[in-house]
Amino acid sequence: MDLKGKVAIVTGVSKGIGRETVKQLLEAGAIVAGWGRTAPDIAHENFHFIATDVSDWELVQGSYQTTKDTLGTPAVLVNNAGMGHQGLIHEMPVEQWREMFDINVHGLFYCIKVAVPGMIELGEGHIINISSIAGTNGVKTMSGYVGTKHAVTGIGHSIFQELRDYGIKVTTVYPGSVNTNFFDNIEFANANANDNMMRPEDVATSVVQCLQTFDNYHVVDLEVRPLWPKGRPNK
Ligand SMILES: NC(=O)c1ccc[n+]([C@@H]2O[C@H](COP(=O)([O-])OP(=O)(O)OC[C@H]3O[C@@H](n4cnc5c(N)ncnc54)[C@H](OP(=O)(O)O)[C@@H]3O)[C@@H](O)[C@H]2O)c1
Repeated sequence: MDLKGKVAIVTGVSKGIGRETVKQLLEAGAIVAGWGRTAPDIAHENFHFIATDVSDWELVQGSYQTTKDTLGTPAVLVNNAGMGHQGLIHEMPVEQWREMFDINVHGLFYCIKVAVPGMIELGEGHIINISSIAGTNGVKTMSGYVGTKHAVTGIGHSIFQELRDYGIKVTTVYPGSVNTNFFDNIEFANANANDNMMRPEDVATSVVQCLQTFDNYHVVDLEVRPLWPKGRPNK
């Protein structure tokens, strides 16, 4: 897709992968609706922040209407908003479990549900869902988060089959550790964000490259990892 003049929704834009994705979409000429709880420090004539908590169905419907009315029908949706809590399954507070599923799974569903009819009208669209390596295997003390990201993976693989005949691509991205504020909530030993993790701007570059592919070329799954997660080994 040539992104020039295309309307793109990105969720969770205040920092991290979402903020970098917004910046690179703007460089590629897209008109970006940033849906999030907190506005980023981005001033650009083609950037429009729309206050949205993705876990609130009413707010998501309103944000879609505002986006469509003011900017046009979105052809791109990057489902990036997400968070995690850590804890043993029997110690996990019910509220934290629910919060992860409300944002990472139900929020993702709400955004897809509102965006797909417009993409069908356009005859083209691309949904990028940010899953995680945690959406491909188990992680001790992260069962809730892992559960949400496996849901993201399964939803993406299913709707890819539903939507391809409408010209809509669905890509699932599986990053390993990225140096962002994500780890503020996570108390793993050695899990503090650090320079051996991937840079969020590199994940964003991969997202934008997926969006820019030829119409009949579809990146279904994209796993990205740091080459040296424990630092560059001595040569
Ligand atoms: N960092 C990693 O190692 C890693 C690895 C694999 C996958 N991921 C995934 O990548 C995505 C982005 O994470 P990140 O690493 O960039 O983390 P981050 O720096 O913590 O950014 C998360 C973003 O999501 C937003 N957000 C959270 N809950 C929201 C809600 N209910 N409604 C709207 N926006 C909401 C946050 O907004 P506020 O500022 O308002 O909180 C923030 O802008 C997440 O889905 C995460 O699970 C991250």
